[in-house]
Amino acid sequence: MILMLAAGLLLAGGFAAEPQTKKEPEMVSFKKKIKPLLKRRCGSCHGSSGSLNLRSYKSLMKGGKSGKVIIPKNSAKSLLYKRIIGKGGARMPRSKPPLKKSDKDLIKLWIDQGAKDN
Ligand code: HEC
Repeated sequence: MILMLAAGLLLAGGFAAEPQTKKEPEMVSFKKKIKPLLKRRCGSCHGSSGSLNLRSYKSLMKGGKSGKVIIPKNSAKSLLYKRIIGKGGARMPRSKPPLKKSDKDLIKLWIDQGAKDN
């Protein structure tokens, strides 16, 4: 209900606004933002050994023992995002402080923008 209302407002705003003023969130860069973040916070356990390797785009998209951990455009179904918010298993990074909210949001946005190797 609230969503529909918000969509309605967005539409109404869209018609009135100039195209240039339309605000789209900036594309999150995998290379600049996501990769360094995963390396720093997850790389110690998800490096070269073990089933889930988070060190490269290719290995990240390949997934782990549960299969794919990233479903492009669907953060809610992506195991990687679920695990960092503590769903579907032990919260990641395991037995370490959780990611900052801004970092979780960044990963979410990157997935929802299509999880590109950008
Ligand atoms: C201290 C070690 C450690 C750190 C750091 C860590 N993990 Fe894990 N992770 C594990 C272990 C061990 C497993 C396997 C057991 C399980 O699923 O809980 C796992 C499993 C996972 C899985 C499930 C893989 C599958 O195929 O079932 C995901 C997704 C995951 N981790 C994401 C992350 C992310 C993202 C980070 C960084 C934000 C992270 N992990 C940091 C130890 C760690």
